[in-house]
Amino acid sequence: MKKFLFLLLTTILVGSGQLIYAGEGMWIPSLLKQLNEKEMKAMGMKISADDIYSLNHSSMKDAILLFGRGCTSELISGEGLLLTNHHCGFDAIQKHSSVEHDYLKDGFWAMNRGEELPNPGLTATLMIRMDNVTDQVLKGITDQMTEKEREATIKKNAEQLVKDFEKNSDYQAAIKSFFKDNQYYMIVTETFKDVRLVGAPPSAIGKFGGDTDNWMWPRHTGDFSLFRIYVSPDGKPATYSKENVPYKPNYFFPISLNGVNEGDFTFVFGYPARTNEYLPSYAIEEITQVENPAKIKLRTQRLDIFKKYAETSPKIRIMYASKQAGVANGWKKMIGQDWGIQRTKAIKKKQDFEKDFQQWADATPERTKKYGNLLPQFKKVYEQIRPFQQAEDYLYEGALGIEIQRFALSFVQLVEISEKHPEDTARMNTILNRLKISEKSFFKDYYKPVDMEVMAQLLETYDKNVPDEFKPSWFAVIHNKFHRNYTKFTKHVFEKSFLDDPEKVEAFLKSYKARDYKKLKKDQFFQMALELRNFSSKNVQPKLSLLSAKTDSLMRIYMKAQMEMQPDKHFYPDANFTLRVTYGKAGGFSPKDAVEYKTFTTMKGIMEKENPDIYDYAVPEKLKSLYKDQDFGPYADKDGSMHVCFVAKNHTSGGNSGSPVLNAEGQLIGVNFDRDWEGTMSDLNYDPSVCRNISLDIRYFLFIVDKLSGAGYLLDEMKIVK
Ligand code: ARG
Ligand code: GLU
Repeated sequence: MKKFLFLLLTTILVGSGQLIYAGEGMWIPSLLKQLNEKEMKAMGMKISADDIYSLNHSSMKDAILLFGRGCTSELISGEGLLLTNHHCGFDAIQKHSSVEHDYLKDGFWAMNRGEELPNPGLTATLMIRMDNVTDQVLKGITDQMTEKEREATIKKNAEQLVKDFEKNSDYQAAIKSFFKDNQYYMIVTETFKDVRLVGAPPSAIGKFGGDTDNWMWPRHTGDFSLFRIYVSPDGKPATYSKENVPYKPNYFFPISLNGVNEGDFTFVFGYPARTNEYLPSYAIEEITQVENPAKIKLRTQRLDIFKKYAETSPKIRIMYASKQAGVANGWKKMIGQDWGIQRTKAIKKKQDFEKDFQQWADATPERTKKYGNLLPQFKKVYEQIRPFQQAEDYLYEGALGIEIQRFALSFVQLVEISEKHPEDTARMNTILNRLKISEKSFFKDYYKPVDMEVMAQLLETYDKNVPDEFKPSWFAVIHNKFHRNYTKFTKHVFEKSFLDDPEKVEAFLKSYKARDYKKLKKDQFFQMALELRNFSSKNVQPKLSLLSAKTDSLMRIYMKAQMEMQPDKHFYPDANFTLRVTYGKAGGFSPKDAVEYKTFTTMKGIMEKENPDIYDYAVPEKLKSLYKDQDFGPYADKDGSMHVCFVAKNHTSGGNSGSPVLNAEGQLIGVNFDRDWEGTMSDLNYDPSVCRNISLDIRYFLFIVDKLSGAGYLLDEMKIVK
């Protein structure tokens, strides 16, 4: 009875919309007012959609930035202080690290502004506004057009819109497709280019639990790092210069000390990269039964080798830390995704939907004509795609999983320009300079024996799993001359090439003249890389892009049809690296029979996991003593414990790392950094029973900065509310 009353009440409050308190959806910030505000308020939100996104006054959107190319970050002070994840700042932290200054291991804290470390190439991008420009982009499009004509018209319209905008503005504009090319938005941005490292905890906090705990709940990771944006003295984005000053944002987030409890309203504002919720079952089968398993196999081999060597020396561990984390992260996610799709019977659910869809499509002659043949067409195209996609995956994850191959590939442009346009010295110098920089960073983190073992292994796996028609010609050499002895072949190529020798490469680039391209052309690794590229662009890419153009256009029509079939449903577009809002309540879940996960973790769990003999579970002495003394300062929860992480029903994805997690008042209560393993299939199929986002409790962040790192001076510029 109680339950019924509650249901009745909420329907009255929410109205008769389709939405339930499910947590599914990554919503467009400019449409919140129209689509979501009512529901958000019914769920407990105290602020308005206008506080989140407004063009008339400063709003929260002015404090969210795309960090680098793949993460989210948020401003937490009036002086450009930028908070993101440890794993988002990882590359920057690693680049400043050496055996003498191991900031990965020991952490880093600037004790004043002068000590903040510049990171050339690192950017932070602010979205200024977004506008629906669908009509302008689709101007001149007719149903009679071929796909090619359609594409060309759209491209021309989009380019014109961007040009017209940028003519009168200092900002950059880009046109982004939404709902599978059914809608378009112009996204206007400003990119900051001087982003300095302010602080990072030791990895034993920022990456506590390492890859063992990655993608898992319960979690105890202090996954944060701090940066600061600098601008030129006149307030404009500029690359690093001593004269630059801290950025003064239009908005920054106040930080709440009140914590989060089960059932509390939360929302996340950030940059999810890519999701695919509306695919047909054939695509899900292809991804989870063919593509993922092959990639998982190749990555497992690479990771085993990395691990073996990392355990032999701290130097190699640092060298391979960032690569290892990247490879392992995707690897584990794919495993979780395949598993989740199976467990939630996602393919069967899609198939059931497809039955209904087919019936709906067949119900009128007009619909039959437009949509009746969609699903059979999808089936056919996905069958055609399979062998090519598999070849591409093996080329990319297999052959290009060999580091030296990727490095060799970066010389192709130099050879091409030297051979065809030796007179174009300007262009040649640009390429040379780029290579001189990339050569340094390549060798800084390159350990040949690792790569040699990887090469022998991956070549063997490639050879055994890919049909002969998809093998570059050097496999014939491996078969005939080396009798399938992959290790011997590997040794041979390394002996014949100079690209694995930092001194030789440096000298070569330093004295480079156009005619030297001949030396590269004779180099074994260069030859292999070149053939790899040519092979792919001749035998795989053309067919693959033809077929994916086909699925794209089918998908455009299928998306439109799905929306037409369910006119009352609020649809949200798949993630496309644009700013989105997702909201849901804090709360645990049951991952399997008889297991119940709670909403938050505490420092007690860190101590339970502690094991000085396992790298991932070592706990810094200072953290231990703070725990022993229960010295949590004002950061402890009302229950007296120190909370570390929490889960909530927010629909997030890769790219949401570093996103602010906000309470009903719009105050910062956490930093998103992960999802639960059982829920990683949410990119393809969201399931409210098991999909959760994992966040760092903002109080643990303050505790680490203040109590553990002695960088409490930074709190002075933050707005902390109780
Ligand atoms: N799974 C999280 C994400 O996708 C965190 C990755 C970094 N952590 C790690 N242990 N590798 O980015
Ligand atoms: N760690 C992820 C990131 O890089 C976020 C986790 C997810 O995929 O949801 O963005």
